[in-house]
Amino acid sequence: MTSWSQEERSLIEIVSSSPEETASLGERVAGRLHRGSVIALRGGLGSGKTCFAKGIARGLGIGENITSPTYTIVCEYPAPVPLYHIDAYRLTGDEDFENTGAAELLGGEGIAVIEWSERIPRSLPPGALSVSIEITGAESRVIRISGAAQTLKEIEEDFVL
Ligand SMILES: Nc1ncnc2c1ncn2[C@@H]1O[C@H](COP(=O)(O)OP(=O)(O)O)[C@@H](O)[C@H]1O
Ligand SMILES: [Mg+2]
Repeated sequence: MTSWSQEERSLIEIVSSSPEETASLGERVAGRLHRGSVIALRGGLGSGKTCFAKGIARGLGIGENITSPTYTIVCEYPAPVPLYHIDAYRLTGDEDFENTGAAELLGGEGIAVIEWSERIPRSLPPGALSVSIEITGAESRVIRISGAAQTLKEIEEDFVL
């Protein structure tokens, strides 16, 4: 085991051609997560952040259809490893996030998936898996995942299988 600070980081780039492809990428990534994992999602409105988060939920065995938590900041989904779906869109920044109490969930018992994570840069742990989605066409997206080199290697290996 290596500590976050010493971990080597790398980046992978994946092209998605449909919402289902984005969700299934999320589902695959979920298989490589563990308690305390933080997934920092970035990308404009309608890029597919919630779609990716739905895939993660599916991968964690959450049957419920997850929706965007825009009005609640955080939605908690119980599962053997619970999911905290966080939306930072309405927050003014890191301090605001601290004040909601949701910051305490990061690195805890569950997995945190954060939409609009760029709004709370200082709250993100250095080991967070960063997922940035770029709209490149009506149904096409370029998804860039950066994080611990070992985790990314595992995610890449899943494609070969
Ligand atoms: N390849 C794709 N991946 C994800 N979403 C896509 C893709 N192509 C089209 N879409 C559409 O883009 C929208 C993404 O919505 P959503 O996941 O709610 O975005 P966000 O949470 O980033 O605002 C959906 O309407 C979805 O059908
Ligand atoms: Mg959303």
